[in-house]
Amino acid sequence: MDPTALETELHALGARARAALAAAADAPALDAVEAEVLGRKSGALTVILRGMGALPAEARPRIGALANDVRSSLEAALAARRASLEAGALEARLAAERLDPTLPGRPLARGSLHPLVETNREIARIFGQFGFVVFEGPEVETDELNFEALNIPPDHPARDLWDTLYVDAPATTDGGRLLLRTHTSPSQIRVMRSTPPPIRALMPGRCFRHEAVDASHGFEFFQVEGLMVDEGTTMAHLRGLLDAFAHAMFGPAKRTRFRPGYYPFTEPSVAFDVACLICGGSGCPACGRSGWMTILGAGMVHPVVLRNGGLDPERYQGFAFGMGTDRIALLRHGITDLRVFLEDDLRFLEQF
Ligand code: PHE
Repeated sequence: MDPTALETELHALGARARAALAAAADAPALDAVEAEVLGRKSGALTVILRGMGALPAEARPRIGALANDVRSSLEAALAARRASLEAGALEARLAAERLDPTLPGRPLARGSLHPLVETNREIARIFGQFGFVVFEGPEVETDELNFEALNIPPDHPARDLWDTLYVDAPATTDGGRLLLRTHTSPSQIRVMRSTPPPIRALMPGRCFRHEAVDASHGFEFFQVEGLMVDEGTTMAHLRGLLDAFAHAMFGPAKRTRFRPGYYPFTEPSVAFDVACLICGGSGCPACGRSGWMTILGAGMVHPVVLRNGGLDPERYQGFAFGMGTDRIALLRHGITDLRVFLEDDLRFLEQF
């Protein structure tokens, strides 16, 4: 073979291969160029080198050196192109996955406690400081515990106040009817029957009544019942405890008073009032111009009720009170209509 023609061919091959490398757009294209030129079996350069044996002896070193130059320059070009393709791919990936660590995080949507739950917890916290422990009775009660054990026999006029829905279910084992409890007071009996004195129990929960619904009455509402039973319990203990509660809940300077009241299950019975939270006591529409707001009913546990709870009234005395959680929550937050509590309207709930 003519050494000069071979020399020309080597130069041309080098130029063609470099152009092909520059044009290769990705790693597979580079691999193809590499195989085509440098491939061990049929690569163009390999084929040329294999034909070197046919050259005149004096031309061999020159052509051999040239072929080596072409090979190493192609290898270098190949490596450089590979590196730049890889860098390009990385850059493209970074651009696609770009994230900005300086951006503020997405805020977590945080819920809040329902005002009734929060009020209930606050009531439990305050009485908890006096050793009262929370006990929850069932919402579906027996006629016996809701009424009879609380000294309200079937024909008692007080039942009119506490009309409710009766549950059409198999009668209880003692033959009594089931109903949606009208107050949390039946829990008093449950606690007395299950816990030996001294008793200091707080019994929150949902209650139901046949009510014409308006801004201050719901057919479904919440109460918190309190019960203390021990030897030597007096009305002074009740008064002191309720004063401490009113001061913790509504402010230390709040004036309070007992008014005579009536409940079949307490004797004597009282209504507990605080000085109006709107006008402070001078009289306004919110307090019916009386200057006072009633926040709960209370009294000394009736001896009949103690006996129905399995306790000896000669030995034990107790007091009980029951407050409307809804009403306390209204007063705390300056809300004027308790229907909002159970409407599940986020515009209301998100304010708490
Ligand atoms: N159960 C009464 C009511 O629903 C409240 C109350 C409880 C009164 C305990 C006295 C003692 O109105």
